[in-house]
Amino acid sequence: SINNSSSIAASIASKTKTKKKHFVAQKVKLFRASDPLLSVLMWGVNHSINELSHVQIPIMLMPDDFKAYSKIKVDNHLFNKENMPSHFKFKEYCPLVFRNLRERFGIDDQDFQNSLTRAAPLNSDSQGRSGARFHTSYDKRYVIKTITSEDVAEMHNILKKYHQFIVECHGNTLLPQFLGMYRLTVDGDETYMIVTRNVFSHRLSVYKKYDLKGSTVAREASDKEKAKELPTYKDNDFINDGQKIYIDDDNKKMFLEKLRKDVEFLAQLKLMDYSLLVGIHDVERAEQEEVESEDNEGDDEGESDGGIGTPPDSPSNTLDSTKPLSPGEFDPTIDVYAIKSNDSAPRKEVYFMAVIDILQHYDAKKKAAHAAKTVKHGAGAEISTVNPEQYSKRFYDFITTILS
Ligand SMILES: *[C@@H]1O[C@H](CO)[C@@H](O)[C@H](O)[C@H]1NC(C)=O
Ligand SMILES: *[C@@H]1O[C@H](CO)[C@@H](O)[C@H](O)[C@H]1NC(C)=O
Ligand SMILES: *[C@@H]1O[C@H](CO)[C@@H](O)[C@H](O)[C@H]1NC(C)=O
Repeated sequence: SINNSSSIAASIASKTKTKKKHFVAQKVKLFRASDPLLSVLMWGVNHSINELSHVQIPIMLMPDDFKAYSKIKVDNHLFNKENMPSHFKFKEYCPLVFRNLRERFGIDDQDFQNSLTRAAPLNSDSQGRSGARFHTSYDKRYVIKTITSEDVAEMHNILKKYHQFIVECHGNTLLPQFLGMYRLTVDGDETYMIVTRNVFSHRLSVYKKYDLKGSTVAREASDKEKAKELPTYKDNDFINDGQKIYIDDDNKKMFLEKLRKDVEFLAQLKLMDYSLLVGIHDVERAEQEEVESEDNEGDDEGESDGGIGTPPDSPSNTLDSTKPLSPGEFDPTIDVYAIKSNDSAPRKEVYFMAVIDILQHYDAKKKAAHAAKTVKHGAGAEISTVNPEQYSKRFYDFITTILS
C-alpha cells in the first residue's frame, strides 16, 4: 500500500524546547534523527502501533500469527529529504505475537510507542556482541539492536517456544524481553532490528559492566576495549579484579532459580554462546557525578535547536514527579533486572544482570567452526568440544560461583 501522510513531515520538523534535570546529558532532536534509518524506525513503530490499536486482541494466538508480517511501502516526495528518505519500506514481523509479548512483559503499547517515537534513539555501544549496532530509546527504557537475517530466521525458529516459555514463567525471566522485530528498507538496503527491554536502568547509571560466559579462554577485554568510556569487561577481568556481587540470600535464590530455568530452556533449543550482562551502579559515585553535571549545566543553555531531555508530558515524568525516587532507588516494574546490594557490601550498589545474545544456534556454529577449521587448522577446537547442554551447565556453574 502507498501512504502519503504529509502530517509526518510537519511533525518531523517540529521542535520542542524543554528542560528537565537528571537528563542533562541527552540532547535530542524531537521527531527527527540524523540517521535516516532511525527516522524510518520511528516512523515505522509509530505506524505499527497506530495500526495495531485498531486490531482486536484475539482470545489466543494462532499458529499463523508466528509466521505473519505486515509491510508498508512509503513514497512521498513531500518529505524533507534531510530528515527522512522519500522512499522506504517498513516490515514488522509477527506483530500480534510481539504485541502479546509486550503485554506479558507489562509494557503498554502507548508507552512503547512514546519511548520510540517522541525523540530519536540514542547511540550506544554498551551491550552485547561486537559488530552489532546498538541504540537505546531516548528514555533509555529499550535497546534497539541491528541483527542479521540469520538472527531473524532463528527468531522465527524459536518464537513459538519462546512465547510459550514466557507464558509459563509469567514474564519472570532473565532472558531478553523481545518486544518487536522489524526490517527497514532504504535505498534498496535491508536492515533488521530487534527491540528488547534495556537490561540496565533508565535512570541509574552503570559505571562498570561485564559480559560473562563461564569460559576463561580468551575472555579478557582488549586494550582497545579498555580505552572506552564504559568498557565491557569479561570473565578473566571479573576474576582478576576480585569483583564481587553482594546480594542477599533471598535475591540470590530467586535469581539462580530463574537462571536455571532460562538456561535449561536455551539448551533445549540448542542455543549457546549467550552471556550474562552485569552492570554495577554505585550510589555514592552517581550522586557525585550528578552534582558535577549540574555544575556544568550552564553549558547546555541556549541550544537553538532540539530540546534537552524528555518531552514534558512523557509518562516517565509523571511517575518520577508524583513519587520522587531517592538515590539508588528504582521502580522494579521498569528496572526489572535490578537487585540492591546487601548489608555487608562495602558500598551501596545496585546490580543489573540478565542473559543476552541468545540467538546463536549450535548447528550454525558447528558449520562456521568447520569452515574455519578447514581454513586454519585448530581454529574451532574449543568450539567443537562444547555442546549447548554443556555450555548451559558451565555457564550456570560459573554464575553460581560469582554470586557467593
Ligand atoms: C497521495 O498523494 C496523491 C498525489 O500527491 C493524492 O492524489 C492522493 O489523494 C494522496 N493519497 C492520500 C491517501 O492522501
Ligand atoms: C505518529 O502517528 C500519528 C498518527 O498518524 C501522527 O499524527 C504523528 O505525527 C506520528 N508521529 C511520528 C513521529 O511520525
Ligand atoms: C552479601 O553478599 C556477599 C557476597 O555474595 C556474601 O558473602 C555475604 O554473605 C552477603 N551478606 C548478606 C548479609 O547477605
